[in-house]
Amino acid sequence: MKEQLQLQLGIDIGGTGIKGALVDIETGELASERKKWKTPRGAEPEDVLKVVKELLETFEWKGPVGCGFPAIIKDGVAFSAANVSKKWYKSNVAQFLSDGTGQTFHVLNDADAAGVAELNFGKAKDLKGTVIILTIGTGIGSGMFVDGKLVPNVEFGHLKFKGGIAEHFISNKLRKELKMEWDEFGDRLNEFLNHVDFIFSPNKILLSGGVSVRFDEYKHKISLNYVDSAALYNNAGIIGCAINARNQSSSS
Ligand code: BGC
Repeated sequence: MKEQLQLQLGIDIGGTGIKGALVDIETGELASERKKWKTPRGAEPEDVLKVVKELLETFEWKGPVGCGFPAIIKDGVAFSAANVSKKWYKSNVAQFLSDGTGQTFHVLNDADAAGVAELNFGKAKDLKGTVIILTIGTGIGSGMFVDGKLVPNVEFGHLKFKGGIAEHFISNKLRKELKMEWDEFGDRLNEFLNHVDFIFSPNKILLSGGVSVRFDEYKHKISLNYVDSAALYNNAGIIGCAINARNQSSSS
């Protein structure tokens, strides 16, 4: 029975993919295969709900669900909608998904979730000071921790930068679209990281998301010696969502 109690479903809704897995919250490891669906074009609420329902059915899951969402999330409500349908803006994402599935959803920003995982089980474990975890995917997600405490909803991908916003200058989506070589990707990322460094003077920046495993390809372009790749690769979001759900349900 203990084994069952250790398991928690985590779902990471992103601009490009919707991923889910059962997580062993004691070890932070995936306890099932990771399933991935494409985010429906336009990420309209009803279409996303459909995928989420399918995911719950696939895992035959009943119980609280930990869910990451690519927007500013306060008490379950979205206060931005950069890479998803604008219909999500100011809507209660947690309520909508709970009502639609009949299960209780605990929702937080996707990059905050990745940070929570990295803090519990990855390279940010036991780090003091200001630690920033950047998830580089469709956009740039950011999670910031001060002495191990999350400062929710920092949006470094939306910092004004180069006449636009940062994630329109550097992201993994952009790397693919512009067919950037790793050197160019590294140069752009380095400029952005130095901007973040100038504003926040962090003690550590960890790079998460798909590009983290390719760190060797562009790390020679990064001039800040405290930048490193994150440990949990693409599963960080799922794992962090699961941890958050467990923390939320045990405190309510
Ligand atoms: C959103 C963030 C999100 C990030 C990664 C950005 O466009 O504003 O909330 O964390 O993309 O998905």
